Amino acid sequence: MVEKIREGIFWIGVNNPEGRDFHGIHTPRGGSYNSYFIDDEKPTIIDCTNKKFLDGWMESLKSKINPLEIKYIVINHAEPDHAGAVKEILDECNNAIIVCTEKCKTILVGAFGVDREFNVVAEGDELSLGKNTLQFNMDPMVHWPETMMTYLVNEKMLFSADLFGTEIAHENLFADKMDNYEELSRDYFTIVMRPLYMQVKKAVDKVRSMDVDMICPSHGPVYRKDVEKIIDYYEKMAINPEEDKVLILYYSIWHSTEKMAEKIAEGIKEAGMEVEVVDIYGANVVGIMAKALTSKAVLFGSLTLLGTYSAYYETLFKFLKLNQQKGKKAGVFGSFGWGRSSNSKLKESLAAIGYESIDEIEMHYGPKGDDDYNKLKEFGKNFVKKL
Ligand code: FEO
Repeated sequence: MVEKIREGIFWIGVNNPEGRDFHGIHTPRGGSYNSYFIDDEKPTIIDCTNKKFLDGWMESLKSKINPLEIKYIVINHAEPDHAGAVKEILDECNNAIIVCTEKCKTILVGAFGVDREFNVVAEGDELSLGKNTLQFNMDPMVHWPETMMTYLVNEKMLFSADLFGTEIAHENLFADKMDNYEELSRDYFTIVMRPLYMQVKKAVDKVRSMDVDMICPSHGPVYRKDVEKIIDYYEKMAINPEEDKVLILYYSIWHSTEKMAEKIAEGIKEAGMEVEVVDIYGANVVGIMAKALTSKAVLFGSLTLLGTYSAYYETLFKFLKLNQQKGKKAGVFGSFGWGRSSNSKLKESLAAIGYESIDEIEMHYGPKGDDDYNKLKEFGKNFVKKL
């Protein structure tokens, strides 16, 4: 599929509307792997594709040009979703030179066996394509060490690689023609960008200092209007992602802890705070992580099983640690029977991931009537007061 973006500049990427998983994110609207073609005296490709999508990608390229005429292939990022088919692409674009960073070159050679002439670029280097000029801007660890952004100087277009991406198929190419994808941007940011948020902030600052009026990421919609909106969103997600809401997570078998979660949620709502309750059993871990990132506080509830909390929490805790959510306010709750409740174990694990536990409640054999329900609602209300 080919779409014209501007005169002589085309999207030649791949849409995968059936894709339902990306890096552990649930992707209900599929995914897209953007690639661009600049038709100039020195015809140039910016970012490639995954091997799985090579045939469709090559068909798009060939509809615009004989691959033997391609002069440059710019690789902003060497992860396989963008560079996995680079060797096969070079077999067809047999006269192309790869343009990338030194670290990217190392990865392309090591991971994909690329054996071709390289034009290694560094911060601020420029490359004339004829009418157009590319400028290379380094943004290491956004989110791999080799990453860079390519700026098309004369058009004020930024090819930002994964930065500003969203995993969604293109119902339309441009963001201003797509609706309700913010939650998908959030989930993508949480898994891909959040672990290295300070580097993301630096990259966002760099983009702000540039004169950009179109952003072409390597996933999801292209931003041609209100470019500030996605820049602001990324900055917010990097440095201040919390909104006025509480997330309640629980695991329950016989519904005692589940009832506790519901009653605490009622109290939080009565205190005027938005709240979401999620049963962690079978839920998407990355989705929970994204909800936690954007919540002001998280309450963790569990039954007690042989003196501790449900093992279903273990994977989530590992992800939360990687996700750099240090300082997040937390509370714990749960039911217990013949032994001690699992609250203390939950608090230990939360401390290890940098969460700050500020309150807890436990109930022997769970809530048993209005007195207990009222206690739980009061707990919810008081929890809000502590935030
Ligand atoms: Fe879209 Fe980091 O690859």
